[in-house]
Amino acid sequence: MKVSIILGTRPEIIKFSPVIREFERLGLDFFILHSGQHYSYSLDRVFFEQLGLLGAQYNLDVGSGSHGLQTGKMLIGIEDVLKRECPDVVLVQGDTNTTLAGALAAVKLHIPVGHVEAGLRSYDRSMPEEINRLLADHCSDLLFAPTEKSKWILLGEGISGDKIFVTGNTVVDALYQNLKIAEGRRDVLKRLGLEEQKFFLATIHRQENVDDKDRFGRILDGLDLVSRKFGFPIVYPVHPRAEKRMKQFGLRPRNIRLIEPLDYLSFLLLESCARLVLTDSGGVQEETCILRVPCVTLRYNTERPETLEVGSNLLAGTEPESILEKVEIMLGRKRDWPNPFGDGKAGSRIARILTDRFKENDC
Ligand code: UD1
Ligand code: UDP
Repeated sequence: MKVSIILGTRPEIIKFSPVIREFERLGLDFFILHSGQHYSYSLDRVFFEQLGLLGAQYNLDVGSGSHGLQTGKMLIGIEDVLKRECPDVVLVQGDTNTTLAGALAAVKLHIPVGHVEAGLRSYDRSMPEEINRLLADHCSDLLFAPTEKSKWILLGEGISGDKIFVTGNTVVDALYQNLKIAEGRRDVLKRLGLEEQKFFLATIHRQENVDDKDRFGRILDGLDLVSRKFGFPIVYPVHPRAEKRMKQFGLRPRNIRLIEPLDYLSFLLLESCARLVLTDSGGVQEETCILRVPCVTLRYNTERPETLEVGSNLLAGTEPESILEKVEIMLGRKRDWPNPFGDGKAGSRIARILTDRFKENDC
């Protein structure tokens, strides 16, 4: 069996790392195809280094651009590599343009596709991620659903049950594998002048939030309100998309500590020590849930409803008063919810399912 792992962005590198580790442990034949969607050191290379991953065998260097341009370049490049390498199966993860391009290029070449983190839905088709995950799921032959809920969503869309495997989310594996190591990064608190449980952490980078001047401005006003009301500093590692928009729109956040995007271990450490996290990130909603850190999501919907159900997360939208109100509620919540995203063995389940399915292709 030969597997092609297609990735291109920060969350894909992090969430694929447990699968890659397992493939290495089992001595499977695989290669990594990087689209080049993320290319800045702090969004890309740092994660390969920190997670001890071998570099990608191919990097298409597609870089940034409009959705069509970026996805189109990826399709051309991925098709070329897949034709040359003839893998038995292609794996994609999540909901980025890289995910969509990888799934689409492979299915058109009649190469089976495995989608890691299948069956998530926000039901908001104005978000590029929703289109990407929907299409990737419907191109896939093996759908690795993180929860029973995501499995039922896929069944409801007419996807045959024999293609769906509930594995848990690999975000849990990655977190369990790295949290202890992250503990060794406590100097990051000192460096930033922070005290455990006496600061808030924020991440805001989603297109619908930061590409709209008024909406981004209102979110930053909300953070300002929160910081003044509770007297805690808010630390915000700024994604390059958000940084670019902040400059372009002339937004000047008040009472927020803007810092560079963090490496995974430093970010995990800050996340685990924060009193509360404000975010629009998918992965951060999951990680805060697993870490039992209260989360307020700066969106009107989520494809991670499990976090709302167990009580780790509330949707605040983007209005300052609502953000303040939801923070107040979350600060009063008991942090005893269960982790709905699995036992940290998703990577090994995925590897086993693949080896069972494609073992006849060994030679
Ligand atoms: C992408 C994903 C999003 C995911 C995020 C993870 C899509 C449609 N969106 O958003 O779902 O949450 O990755 O972080 O795939 N830039 C850099 N350096 C880089 C990469 C990007 O400076 O290495 C800047 C460029 O100005 C670029 C902008 O960030 O135009 C946006 O990059 P892009 O790849 O289009 O999407 P993300 O916002 O990163
Ligand atoms: N993350 C990180 N450094 C940061 C911010 C986030 O390492 O400064 C990690 C975080 O731990 C999580 C992942 O990036 O695993 C989430 O990625 P992102 O928010 O970019 O994308 P999304 O999950 O929204 O697609």
